[in-house]
Amino acid sequence: MAALLTGIPRLYKFGKVGLGTLIFGSQLGMSACDSNSGSAVEPQIPIVAFTESINITNQQYVNLRSDNGATYVTGGVRGLIVVRQNSSTYYAFERNCPYRANDTCARVQIDPSRLFLKDPCCGSQFDLQGRVQQGPASRALRQYNTSLSGNLLTITN
Ligand code: FES
Repeated sequence: MAALLTGIPRLYKFGKVGLGTLIFGSQLGMSACDSNSGSAVEPQIPIVAFTESINITNQQYVNLRSDNGATYVTGGVRGLIVVRQNSSTYYAFERNCPYRANDTCARVQIDPSRLFLKDPCCGSQFDLQGRVQQGPASRALRQYNTSLSGNLLTITN
């Protein structure tokens, strides 16, 4: 057994508990937003190239028929939220939360009130222009490019 242990890193020598705790600790970090992590470094949201086009008159986008209306659209890293600012201006935001972007729960939703956007992961809130309304997030939502041609809204990165 001693011969067996010589080649293994010092951590394991403290027995399975050390290694088990390390794996368990990292699993915990991945499933819930640890807003008290103390780490000032907010991981970057991955960059993905995409183009998504929607017909804003489609019934599934009925919420885009009034100003400040918001709807979900596929695309980006973890999906998009499109918000109508006015009849000719639409903003498209990445749903991957900019706070702890790697956490599995870091996905922004349209609040049931439809007055703001919220990440249930640990409660960050954003207004309908993507700006932080309530922490712990400190960065605005990533905004993608949009262009409107007739009823066709194209979203690109
Ligand atoms: S990851 Fe925690 S609020 Fe978004």
